Amino acid sequence: MPKAKTPFLLRGMRDILPEESEVWYLVVDAARKISAQYGFTQIETPLLEQTPLFVRGIGKDTDVVGKEMYSFTDQGGDKITVRPEMTASMVRAYIEHGWLNKPQPVKVYQIGTNFRHERPQKGRLRQFSQWDVEVIGSGHPVVDVELIMLGYGFFSDLGIPVEIQINSIGTPESRKNYIRLLQDYYKPLKRKLCEDCKKRFVRNPLRLLDCKVCQEYQKDAPVIIDHLDDTSRKHFEDVLEHLDDAEVPYTLNPTIVRGLDYYTHTVFEFYPEGDEQAAQGALLAGGRYDGLAEDLGGRSTPGCGFAAGIERIVHRVEDMVRAGTMTIPEPRVDLYVAQLGEAPRRRALYLFEALRRAGFSAAQHFSRNGLKGQLAIASKLEAKFTLIFGQKELVDKTVLIRDMENGSQEVVDFKKIVKECKKRLDLWHKDHEQA
Ligand code: HAM
Repeated sequence: MPKAKTPFLLRGMRDILPEESEVWYLVVDAARKISAQYGFTQIETPLLEQTPLFVRGIGKDTDVVGKEMYSFTDQGGDKITVRPEMTASMVRAYIEHGWLNKPQPVKVYQIGTNFRHERPQKGRLRQFSQWDVEVIGSGHPVVDVELIMLGYGFFSDLGIPVEIQINSIGTPESRKNYIRLLQDYYKPLKRKLCEDCKKRFVRNPLRLLDCKVCQEYQKDAPVIIDHLDDTSRKHFEDVLEHLDDAEVPYTLNPTIVRGLDYYTHTVFEFYPEGDEQAAQGALLAGGRYDGLAEDLGGRSTPGCGFAAGIERIVHRVEDMVRAGTMTIPEPRVDLYVAQLGEAPRRRALYLFEALRRAGFSAAQHFSRNGLKGQLAIASKLEAKFTLIFGQKELVDKTVLIRDMENGSQEVVDFKKIVKECKKRLDLWHKDHEQA
């Protein structure tokens, strides 16, 4: 019988390898930390939702709904979609759990996986993760600004320089007039447009503005903010003034219209500073969606939010580390437990757990044998002391404690080791603080 082929990764999917996970959690932890500082609480919505949630929420003429959703009918006959984004789910949760009765606005965030059947390329995956932040229940422009500041603060904390691009697309009502003007402008050019834009001309004219292929026609197109109604213009002016007051730098970009239909008023995208990087897409993107709750059958409720692509940010950090413009602090430990031989190793397990429970940051590699190798790892981790436990120590009920700075070693009673470590580490910190 021919040997069955080994199954490989699906296209557009990635394993997050152990060597990447440090950067991954650096990014995720920074997101969690700043979300809490800005008063957001974390929620988790399911990966699977009813298909109409996304069709109604994101819009049937969008690329996401039209071409990219992983949808299927399950065993019970329900039409199901693996979420391509999280905003629709967050607003569904708001409606379903009656959050309208909570103090408004509700500020929630979620870190999770999404799926889109896109053409895979650098920075564009079929399975990707987002840090998604939403403020639901306030239409005040300060909310848009708070979110932009949250995103800006997050990249500053990580040390990633970003450029914020911002635009307003007003309300669907105030946009109608502009869309007519846009179609008038594009009508004589229609033959020259790419195949996708020919379809966009009819179905989703705003998207003509952010096509990467037909860029040459965009610069002379009418500018949306010149054609919005007074309320929309006032909202946008307020946002820009607040940003100026907060000294957050931004660039106005009239071609930002976003690929999801629920947006109203402010829309924004964050790019890594430097043009050549922008081609890989935005690191973070979002905007206001004042009509979404109503589109989903809820009461009219304004909302605003953004999502940042974790993989893209992780890549950016890795690129910067390679280029030497960023350093990742190595994980450090205070104590390292080295063991020599079968029987000492068993007792060393107890020793390590006792140290860990006593609150020390300790490390070990119980599957390693030679002392030299273990001491080398201890040095790499910058352990201050290594506790060496061999046959002799097992019999004598002692531990050898090695000062990693000067190599001196001393025998300590096994029972007193926790106390002894504490004493030595306190002394170590005192000496180093003085120095
Ligand atoms: P989005 O622009 O579709 O917006 O995605 C937001 C971010 O997710 C992108 O800027 C990018 O960093 C990342 N991303 C999107 N698609 C992919 C992909 N295929 N591969 C890798 N990364 C990707 C939304 O999803 C909205 N729900 C954002 C939002 C929240 N608006 C309001 N609230």
